[in-house]
Amino acid sequence: MADLTVELNRLKLRNPILVASGTFGYAKEATAFVDFSQLGGIIPKTVTLLPREGNPPPRTVETSCGLLNSIGLDNDGIDTFIEKHIDYLTSLDCPIIANVAGHNAEEFVVLAEKLNAFPQLAGVELNMSCPNVSGGVDFATNPDMTRQVLAAVREKCNLPIIAKLTPNVTNIVEIAAAAAEGGADAVTLINTLMGVAIDWRRRKPILGNVFGGLSGPAIKPVALRIVCQVAQAVEIPIIGVGGIQNLDDVMEFLVAGASAVQIGTASFYTPGLASRLPGELNELLDHEGVARVNDIVGTLQYPNSVPAPCAKV
Ligand code: SIN
Repeated sequence: MADLTVELNRLKLRNPILVASGTFGYAKEATAFVDFSQLGGIIPKTVTLLPREGNPPPRTVETSCGLLNSIGLDNDGIDTFIEKHIDYLTSLDCPIIANVAGHNAEEFVVLAEKLNAFPQLAGVELNMSCPNVSGGVDFATNPDMTRQVLAAVREKCNLPIIAKLTPNVTNIVEIAAAAAEGGADAVTLINTLMGVAIDWRRRKPILGNVFGGLSGPAIKPVALRIVCQVAQAVEIPIIGVGGIQNLDDVMEFLVAGASAVQIGTASFYTPGLASRLPGELNELLDHEGVARVNDIVGTLQYPNSVPAPCAKV
């Protein structure tokens, strides 16, 4: 039996396979399909300070090898999350990492402070990167704001903190470095890529909110590229996400430098995937003679003739 446990600074997980926020509801919906006791962790849908209705429909559209969504952070707000969902979620045989989004640094702090009252949570993921909400929710496009939000949240919340970053930036390395400086225990790479789907016959965009975030296998090479870049340049544990749909995909992210991964869009079409992967990973590592999953993290060998993907910052 390989050792699948992972430590992402203060966040300790029994295995590196988590389910991504926004693709697993508040877990109840998955009960029939998923053995929660096998998962490394569950990250429920993003919660905001106040309830949000979300964006006008249609909110999702299938694309080539991908899914474009513009949900707009539809949720009932943090107080309802605490009242109706936390007890159930934390009663499951699985670490729970709450996911929150604020409109400004103060909102992130209030949200994190409220969650700090629940030490049974394994951690908090800050959604600093939703592409579908106007008015300042994509904090992770600016290194100073990223650093400030993390530092302010760290001051008020003792739970492990993960920053979920956007790929829709010029230099992801400086944003990841800012998250590390602000005190993030880990970064989640990546949230969705901005896209648009068009019905040319009607001369109309398909999504009600026009633009949306692309996820699924179509974005895996971009996510892997970003994991490679950040792993080379910044000393912070990485949780990789983007298009993972089988064990080979998991291995690619680990070798690229991710210490853990999230299964997102694939859970919509293979709901049991995430709970099968830890067992498959165990078998593969045994077969490869690898004693600890951590031993393969970041073992990608770059050819000498190719410059390192990103200089240290
Ligand atoms: C959404 O609710 O619009 C998606 C959340 C996200 O991409 O962060």
